[in-house]
Order: sequence, then C-alpha cells, then structure tokens
Amino acid sequence: MRVGWSHPSEAKREHFMLWLKAFHVIAVVTWFAGLFYLPRLYVYHADAKDSIGIERFRVMERRLFALMTIGAAASVGLGAAMLAAAPIYLTMEWLRIKLLLVLVLMAYHGFCYKLMRDFAENRNTRSAKWYRVFNELPSLLLIAIVVLVVVKPF
Ligand code: HEM
Repeated sequence: MRVGWSHPSEAKREHFMLWLKAFHVIAVVTWFAGLFYLPRLYVYHADAKDSIGIERFRVMERRLFALMTIGAAASVGLGAAMLAAAPIYLTMEWLRIKLLLVLVLMAYHGFCYKLMRDFAENRNTRSAKWYRVFNELPSLLLIAIVVLVVVKPF
C-alpha cells in the first residue's frame, strides 16, 4: 500500500513506515531461520544414539529456540506497530488472511517448544521421517504469506 504524500508530515510518516517494514522483514528472516532449522535438528536428534551427540542437540535446540522466539516477538511487535501507525491495513482482506496464517505459525512455534521439551526429557516417540514431513510446513506458510503481502490478491 502507498499512502499519498499530501503533506510533509505524511512523507515523514511514510518514511517511518519503511523503517518499520525493513526491520519487520529482518525479524521475519530471523524467525524463519529457526522455523526451518529447528525441526531439521529434530530429524537428526530422533536418530541420534550417542549421549554426547544427544546432549549437543539439546543445547543447539535450546539456543535456536531462544533466537527464533526473539525473531517471532520482533516480527509481531513491528507488524503490530505498522498496524498502529496505519490502521487502514486492518480493513484489507489480504492482511486479515495473513494474520490467520500468522496464528498458525505461532501454533507451530509453540508445538516446536513442546517437541523440544519431549527431547529434553527423553520422551520423544516420533520418527525422523515424521520430523521431515513436519519440517515442510513453514515453507508452505512462508510462500502463502509472502504472496499475500506482496501480490495482495485479495
Ligand atoms: C502479527 C504478525 C504480523 C503483522 C501484524 C504484520 C503486518 C505487516 C504489515 C502491516 C506490513 C506492511 C504491508 C505493506 O505495506 O504492504 C507487513 C509487511 C510485510 N510482512 Fe508482515 N506482519 C506480521 C507477520 C509477518 C510474517 C510472519 C511474515 C512472513 C512470513 C511477514 C512478512 C512480511 C513481508 C515480507 C512484508 C513486506 C512486504 C512488502 O515489502 O511490501 N509478516 N507486515
């Protein structure tokens, strides 16, 4: 969306929005680094047998989860800041569908936490193959969300 520059203060607002959007995209990239790689670690963790390797996976998973949670919080915070600065977005269909998909993404994120706790407490029962399939979901959500925000088909 482009807001018309009818007044210098409008131009300033537009410029501020661009800064929010830039850092929103940076935060989203950070979030997705984790959403793509954490379930990958689970694929290898599910098959790991040696205790040193297993302990290393636990540490990597904990750190990656912390990083991706920071990315998630920053994505949502900066997205919400854009909505607060230009509430007109909320009337747009593509934005509403995007928010629904973001809820699915948050549920996926929360489920990743549960899976991490299962591994940490030696309770994992899922196979490496199951994690491979689970690992595909964020790609589909990323494609859907980026097409919605860039093409704005609705
Ligand atoms: C509660 C969460 C979120 C909110 C409220 C939000 C809101 C917004 C808003 C208002 C814009 C500006 C759109 C425009 O100017 O056309 C935007 C841009 C963008 N968002 Fe989000 N967003 C959220 C989460 C996400 C997520 C999870 C992704 C990625 C999967 C994402 C990807 C993008 C991208 C790539 C842009 C830039 C589009 C462009 O350059 O025109 N957002 N977001």
